[in-house]
Order: sequence, then structure tokens, then C-alpha cells
Amino acid sequence: DLMMAMIGSAVGLGNIWRFPNVLYSHGGGSFMIPYIVSLFLLGISFVLVEYAVGFKFKRSLARILFAVSKKLEPVAWFILLIVFLIATYYVCVVGWDLIYIVLSLTKAWGANPDLFFANNVLQATDSISGIFKIVPMVFASVFAIWFMAWFIIKRDLNDGIGNVSKVLLPVLCLIVVGIVAFSLTLPGASIGYTQIFTPDWSALTNLDVWLAAFGQIIFSLSLGMAIAMTYASYLPEGSKLVDNAVIVAFSNSGFEVFNSIGTFSILGFMALTTGMPFNELVTEGTGLAFVVFPQVFNTMGDVAYIIGPLFFICILFAGITSLIALLEGVCYSISEKFLIERKKTATAVCIVGFLISIIFTTAVGSTILGVFDAYLNNFALLFAILLECIIFGWIYKFDDLIEILNNNSSIKVGKTWKTVIKYILPICIAGLWIQGVMSTISTIDTLSSTIMLILTIVLIVVPIIFAKLPARNPHYYD
Ligand code: PHE
Repeated sequence: DLMMAMIGSAVGLGNIWRFPNVLYSHGGGSFMIPYIVSLFLLGISFVLVEYAVGFKFKRSLARILFAVSKKLEPVAWFILLIVFLIATYYVCVVGWDLIYIVLSLTKAWGANPDLFFANNVLQATDSISGIFKIVPMVFASVFAIWFMAWFIIKRDLNDGIGNVSKVLLPVLCLIVVGIVAFSLTLPGASIGYTQIFTPDWSALTNLDVWLAAFGQIIFSLSLGMAIAMTYASYLPEGSKLVDNAVIVAFSNSGFEVFNSIGTFSILGFMALTTGMPFNELVTEGTGLAFVVFPQVFNTMGDVAYIIGPLFFICILFAGITSLIALLEGVCYSISEKFLIERKKTATAVCIVGFLISIIFTTAVGSTILGVFDAYLNNFALLFAILLECIIFGWIYKFDDLIEILNNNSSIKVGKTWKTVIKYILPICIAGLWIQGVMSTISTIDTLSSTIMLILTIVLIVVPIIFAKLPARNPHYYD
């Protein structure tokens, strides 16, 4: 049951919305090798750290970090702030999905879902002045999703929602299997899916592709956000931790790669029917999924009136469960330190979150969303993971973790894993990080650089303030 919950928390918008887009914008085949390497080097290796630590300490991230050293509190708030900021744009993608539930009832996107998404849904513009123009429909759906999240957390309906998703997740998988099978029969499908499986060896030296691969593994497996840690803390004694981690990581990546075979087949079909070059098929990259799936529903005939809405409803639930998982940790940590009632904390967190989300509902919203997404995963969380590698690999007694993991597992870890966490991974991350920062600085436009600068300042100042504020809970540092 717990393993299903863990797979459930990993499978979400990351697999259906984010992966195809990252794969598409990094050239398909050139992305796959870095992605597979990252799955092992970063994904599985780091999930193991989180499992071992969560299983051993059985408490919140802040308190785990205190147990290692008292000075680490800002690190915990830094991570929680990233998680919160991810939630602010995650809401918007779930909001787009909500719009598509309604649209799919009548296939209201018409014959050109790409233009429809950019012009009618997002009403996107390229000019910065678009930041002053709120798009009413997106605004309303973002508000609705925040309201739902608030309602669920406040009323403690998480279990109920969890049960609904447990039913809907398998349904989602079945629909995806159906869509992939159908897509493969479309004319031109092979133009698309061969892109994924034709490796471009020359791209291996492109560090931006590697950075994107790391970012995708981080988002998709919810790494570094203390999510796996929380789950592992519930695992019963005698659990096979390593086996568990490997199964979760493989199922998650298997699902997204499988899903993208469908996505790329549909793109191949679009390339054939429109005669457009493959890399110019989709105008707003952040919305790739909302272009490609409507496209396939258009070719499916009347069954699409059932499959379409069902598909978007499943995504809605997958999205809301992930959203709750993101917000829970933030609310929990705030109410734990400041002894504020859970409900009040939830209300405050949701209001602040909603206010931030408003920028994603403007006419440049999807562009800003892309900047948030890339910055928070490829830079901020990557940095957090570097810190966690150093904290658990160097400051904490690492051999204890190996023992915990190996206790009952049939797959054992040892020296190789230790070398990866202590040396290889930190060096790779540091290298990629520095290179990524430099290449971003040299290519970036004004809007993106302003947003990144603001995010950087917020990510430095706010965690320090939260750590400095005195705890009202007398046992907080025990
Ligand atoms: N991993 C989830 C996904 O792929 C995203 C997520 C992040 C979920 C954090 C929960 C917590 O969509």
C-alpha cells in the first residue's frame, strides 16, 4: 500500500506535462542518455539517502537537520520555501487542466489546439507589458484550485482525496496506455517516436541538456523536498528500503518515457499533416501536453468525448494530491515551530500562495511559469540536493545509513553508493550548477533575469528570517 502511495506521489504532472516538454525542447534523442544516467546517478542514489534518513529519524526535515547540527535550520526553511514556490506554479498547471476538463466536453479547442492554447486560453503575449493584463479564465481556475487545496487541508480531507486518487491513478495509466497504442497507429507516428530513440552523441557534451535532465529527475521523483523522507518515516520495521526505492524510481521513469512515446507519435502526426518542421509544432512549450492530447482526441472520433474529460479529471486529482503533499510539509513545519493552529497556518499559506500565483495568470504568465520551473528545479533544488549530499555524506555518520538500507533489502548498497554520494554526485552537481549559472547569465533576457534575481533574494532572505524568528514551541529544538 505504501509503495503504491510512493509511486502515486511521484507520478503526476511531472510525467505527463513536464517530461514531454523538456524532452521536446532538448531535442528528443539527445536528452535520453543524460536522462538515463541521471536516473541512476542522481535519482536512485539520492532517493536512497532520503529513504534511509527518513526511516531512521522519523521526523520533520527541520528536526532531522537539527539532529545533525543546530546551525542547519536555515537550510530546512530554504528547502521548504522552494517547495512552496513550486506549489505556486504547480497550481497554475492544474488550473489549465481544470479549463481543459470543461473544453474537452465539446472539444472546444477546435482544429488547431496549438493556436487555441496560446491565443484563447493563455492569451499569451511576448511583451513585458503583458504582466499587467490578467487573463480572467486562468485567474478563475487558479483561484478555484487554491480554494480546493485550502479546503482539503483545512478540513483534513487528505485521506479522502488520497483514496480517490488511488482509484484514478490506475485509470490514468490505462488511458495513457490506450492513447499511446492509438497514437502509434497514426500516420507519421514514426517520425515522432524515432526522435526519442535516436541518440545524438554529439549532444552529450552540451551541459545544458545535462542540467535539464537533472532538473527533470528532481521534479519527477520529488527529490530534495523531503517528500520521500516523510513516506519512509511511515515504513514499518523490516521494510526492504533499497528494493522499494528502485521500484519507485523505475516505475516513475518508465511511465514518463512510455507516455512520451505517445506524445512524440502525435507530434510526428502533426508534422506530417501540417508540413511544419518538427521543432516548430508547438508555440508555447510549457503547454505541450495541452496541445498534443487535444490533437489526439480530435482524431479519435466520438469516444474522445468520454476519454478526454476522464483523462483531464485523472490529471486533476493527480495534481491536487501532489499539491497537498507539497503544502502539507510547509504548513506542518510552520505550525510546529510557531505553534500556530493548523487551520490558520493553512489559510495563511494558501492566501500568500494565491497572491504569488496571480503573476502566472497574466498574459506573460506561461513565460514566467517556465522561468520559475527551470530556476527552482535546475538551480535551487539542485543546490539543496548538493547541500543535503554534503550534510548526510560528510557531517553525518554515513555508514549508519548503509546499514539501515541493507538491513532487510535484497538489493544491497555499499562502497559504490558511498562514493557516489560523497564525491561523484556533489562534484557533478557543483560543476553543472556553475556552468548552468554562467550560461544562463550570458543568454538571459530582461524579464527572466529580473525574476531570477528576485527569486534569489527571496530564497536567501526569507529562510534566514524564518530561522531567526524565535520558536514558540518550547520543545522545538529538543
Ligand atoms: N513528482 C511529482 C510529479 O511528477 C511532483 C511532486 C512534487 C509531487 C512534490 C509531490 C511533491 O508531478
